[in-house]
Order: sequence, then structure tokens, then C-alpha cells
Amino acid sequence: MTRSGIIGGVIAALAIGGAGAAFAVAWRPAIAAIDPPAPQSFPADLVKHGRELAAIGNCNDCHTVREAKNFAGGLPVPTPFGTIFSSNITPDADTGIGRWSEAAFARAMRSGVDREGRHLYPTFPYDHFTNVSDEDDRALYAYLMTREAVHAPARENQLAFPLNQRVVVAGWKLLFLHRGTYQPNPAKSAEWNRGAYLVEGLAHCGACHTPRNALGAERASASFAGGDVDNWQAYALNAQSPAPVPWEAGALYAYLHRGWHPDHGTARGPMAEVVSNLAQVPPSDVRAIAIYMAEVLGPPPPDRRREAVLAEATPGPAAQTEAQGAAIYAAACATCHESGRPPPYGGINLGLSTAISGPDPRNLANIVLSGVRPLEGERSPIMPGFADSMSDAQIAQLLNYLRSRFGRQPAWSDIEKAVADARRTETAALHTSAGARHAPADPAQRDKP
Ligand code: HEC
Ligand code: HEC
Ligand code: HEC
Repeated sequence: MTRSGIIGGVIAALAIGGAGAAFAVAWRPAIAAIDPPAPQSFPADLVKHGRELAAIGNCNDCHTVREAKNFAGGLPVPTPFGTIFSSNITPDADTGIGRWSEAAFARAMRSGVDREGRHLYPTFPYDHFTNVSDEDDRALYAYLMTREAVHAPARENQLAFPLNQRVVVAGWKLLFLHRGTYQPNPAKSAEWNRGAYLVEGLAHCGACHTPRNALGAERASASFAGGDVDNWQAYALNAQSPAPVPWEAGALYAYLHRGWHPDHGTARGPMAEVVSNLAQVPPSDVRAIAIYMAEVLGPPPPDRRREAVLAEATPGPAAQTEAQGAAIYAAACATCHESGRPPPYGGINLGLSTAISGPDPRNLANIVLSGVRPLEGERSPIMPGFADSMSDAQIAQLLNYLRSRFGRQPAWSDIEKAVADARRTETAALHTSAGARHAPADPAQRDKP
């Protein structure tokens, strides 16, 4: 979709919303500024609970520039409409949220409106956070207000007219923001309900895993059908899941909480950040998320067990056109991926990898180029990146071979383009962190202490 098409769509959205109704929601009053509350005024257990909730909500991922101060904002979040910079949510009185009352914070979480009454862009995933309970908002507020105050003025968004007019967001909200607290399903267990509350709300899993429409909203009819984030594919997590061995609750728990499962491997890119946050969350909450997601994924078909999947991935003779890729695999990959070595150096048999059975080669290209970096201070899986030792053409041959040998789906088209795109985005992220998200796009930012 072209940019002018998108803008036309947004104007149409305003019109559909009805000009009068749009005006009514467009205006929001300011909430009076307060003196920044003293950190000691918040009970320690409330702050601790808020820390866990902030980890579930990934607040740090979007609000912290790598190597900068926590929660000081300024991270460029790319969208199809332009770049939106995250805000400083430290308790700094001038540039952060130090003068925000708890009511102002809760309004931002629930309605996407800042203290002064301006509409916030839904890049801040308040379409999910709207479900968060008063108690949880209180704990999040306590946690943020007890962080170090950092003076960091907002950076200007890069959006074209009319999207740079915040009032346009009012029309978007009329269509796509469904306010309401979570209504427990009495037919389900307390654990399932806890998981649903977190997944659909604070954890905003669908923000990456659900495809979006032309106006940038999640498509309600395609919940968890797979989405895009920072040149990664966030795989489908419903019946369309491309995982070779179907997910079940136990494997989801291990992957989400410990970062690895023998049938599925490890999380990379933006998901690596989600998982490293979930490692700091009470296990009971991660288990609840796993129970709920297992139901979203649906019951596993009985014929796709680990043994059956691996038997299919046993090599036949490589076709002539694949000889090149087969040779690269044997020399550079098989030692770790077929040796049965345990982690951190042993990788899963690639017949088990969703990266190879996924709908496009993006994630696989990203992994081959940049490898798998270990989590800070932990003995977690490590794989070297091949960006410096392989040409794009060699990587394309390798990917083509891997898909044909280990995948059960038709060959990918446009592998060369995917490799070139991956190299372009990975170069920026390569030396900074596991994900492009933390990579400051602006070199001036990189020099900040
Ligand atoms: C996917 C990225 C993303 C995540 C995750 C995220 N935010 Fe944000 N947030 C943003 C962006 C971008 C903005 C700025 C929006 C704008 O300028 O309209 C923002 C704005 C805000 C604001 C408004 C601040 C102001 O000065 O107007 C608050 C408060 C906030 N976020 C709190 C949170 C909390 C709390 C969490 C975790 C529970 C969180 N955010 C998670 C991207 C994110
Ligand atoms: C910031 C975007 C983002 C968010 C938020 C996110 N994911 Fe992901 N997720 C991804 C990406 C990207 C991948 C693919 C990672 C890879 O290739 O290793 C992924 C992979 C996964 C996988 C592996 C699927 C497979 O078949 O291999 C699972 C399971 C998963 N996510 C569950 C979740 C759950 C549950 C949540 C919420 C708690 C969540 N994700 C939130 C981006 C996200
Ligand atoms: C030094 C050992 C090592 C080498 C060499 C290596 N890998 Fe890996 N690889 C790993 C580890 C460890 C992981 C993370 C654990 C996992 O997911 O299997 C991994 C993960 C992967 C994944 C993701 C699997 C998943 O979780 O879905 C893919 C795909 C992959 N490697 C492909 C390759 C390819 C292709 C090559 C050769 C160009 C290669 N690897 C070389 C160790 C290695």
C-alpha cells in the first residue's frame, strides 16, 4: 500500500468515525501537574510487583536506547507510516512523567492520552494496555516513579502530514480502541484466565504476532496469524503455526521462561528480548501465559511428533543445483546442528526449526548473518554469525538447500532479496544487541553515555 493510500485511509477513518464524534473524542482535558512524589512514598512490595509487570509489558525494550539510561525514551520505533520516538517515562519533572499523577498515568495506559490531553500514537500498545487493572497500573506507576530521573527531551517524530497531527489518532481510536477491563471466562481455570489477561493485555503478544491492516491496527479476524516486526517474521501462533513439532504448554513454558526447548530451539531477534524479560517474571505468570497460548495454538495433530519430523529430515541425495548449498551446510553448520552437542554450542536439528518451515526466509537469513548472541551473564545458546565469512550468493544457496532438505513446504521465492534486506538491517544491529530495536539509528545517540 502506498503512503498516499494510507493517508487517504486515515482520512476515510475519520470520516467513518463521523466528524462530530471525532471532535468529541479528539478533545481531552489536561490533568493537573503534581510535584514529583517522593520515592519513599511507595511501598517496596508494590514497587517489586511493578518491576515484574514492567518486564511482562516490555516497557524497557521500547523506552530505552541501548547503552543509554533506562526508560529515558528516544528509541526510534519504525512503522509503515514513519518513525515514532518513544517517550521519556522516568520521573524527571521537565522531560519525563515526574509531574504525572497516577490518574494521568492510568489514562495514558487505558486511552492513549498524555497528561496534557494529547493523543498518543498506538505504537505505544495501549490498544492492549487498556485491559490492565487499576491495581496493576498502580504498581507500574510506583515502579516507574521510583526509577532514576533522567533529563532527556523528546525527539521529534518523523511523520508526514496529516499523520503528524495527533488529532488524527482520535479517528483511529474510534475504530480500533476497544476499552474495557478483562472479563474472566467462568468456564476456564483461574490459570487460563490469568494467562488470557496477560497475553491480551500487558504482554501484548498480538502486537507482533497478529497481522495489521492498512491503518496499522491488528486484524481482529486474523488473531495470532503471524505479523512483522523490524524485518523479522513473528510466526503464527494459531492453527496456522509453521512449527515442525506442534507447540504444547510445557514446551511454551520452557521456551518463554528459560529461553530454549529441545524441540524448538531458542528465541532470537525481538523475541529474544521478550524472553529475557519473561525470565524475570514469577514462573506462575509464565505458566499461565503458556496454558492460554497452548489453547490459542490448538490441539497438536498426533502425527507430528519429534521422531516423525526428524525422520522426514533425513537427507536424500542433494539435487545438482543444491550441491553448493549442501557443501556449505556440511562445512559450516552440521558440526553444531547434527552433533547432538548440548547447549550452549549445540544447535537443534534444523528439521525442528520454525525458521526453515516459516512462510518466508527472513528470520533464517537474519540468524545466519548475525548468529545467536548469548544473554548477558548467562550460559545460554551461542552461534557465530556468518555475515563476514559468506557472500549473499552463498547464503542464498545455503538457504535454498536448507529449505529443500529440512522443510516440507515449497521452495521460497526471492531468497536473494531477503538476504540483501537482512544484511542491510543486521549491519546496523550486529554490534549492538540481539535485536534491531536497541540499535540506535542515529549515530549521535550511539555516543551518548
Ligand atoms: C512497542 C513499543 C512500546 C512498548 C512495548 C511500550 N511503549 Fe510506552 N510508548 C511508546 C511510544 C512510541 C510512545 C510515544 C507515543 C507518542 O509519542 O505518541 C510511548 C509513550 C508512552 C507514555 C506516554 C508518555 C508521554 O510523555 O506522553 C507512557 C506513560 C508509556 N509509554 C508507558 C509505557 C509503559 C508503562 C509500558 C510497559 C507496560 C510501555 N510504555 C511499553 C512505545 C512503547
Ligand atoms: C516485539 C515483538 C514480539 C512480541 C511482543 C512477542 N513476540 Fe513472540 N516472536 C516474535 C518474533 C520476531 C519471533 C520469531 C523469533 C525467531 O525467529 O526466533 C517470535 C517467536 C515466538 C514463538 C516461537 C514460534 C515458533 O514456532 O518458533 C513463540 C512461541 C512466541 N513468539 C510467543 C510469544 C508470546 C506468548 C508472546 C507474549 C508473551 C510474544 N511471543 C510476544 C516477536 C514478538
Ligand atoms: C558453534 C555452533 C554452531 C554453528 C557453527 C552453527 N550454529 Fe546454528 N545454532 C547454534 C546454536 C547453539 C543455536 C541456538 C539453539 C537452537 O535454537 O538450536 C543455533 C540456532 C540456529 C537456528 C535457529 C534454530 C531454531 O531455534 O529455530 C538456525 C536456523 C541455525 N542455527 C542455522 C545455522 C546454519 C545455517 C549454520 C551454518 C551456516 C549454523 N547454524 C551454524 C549453534 C551453531
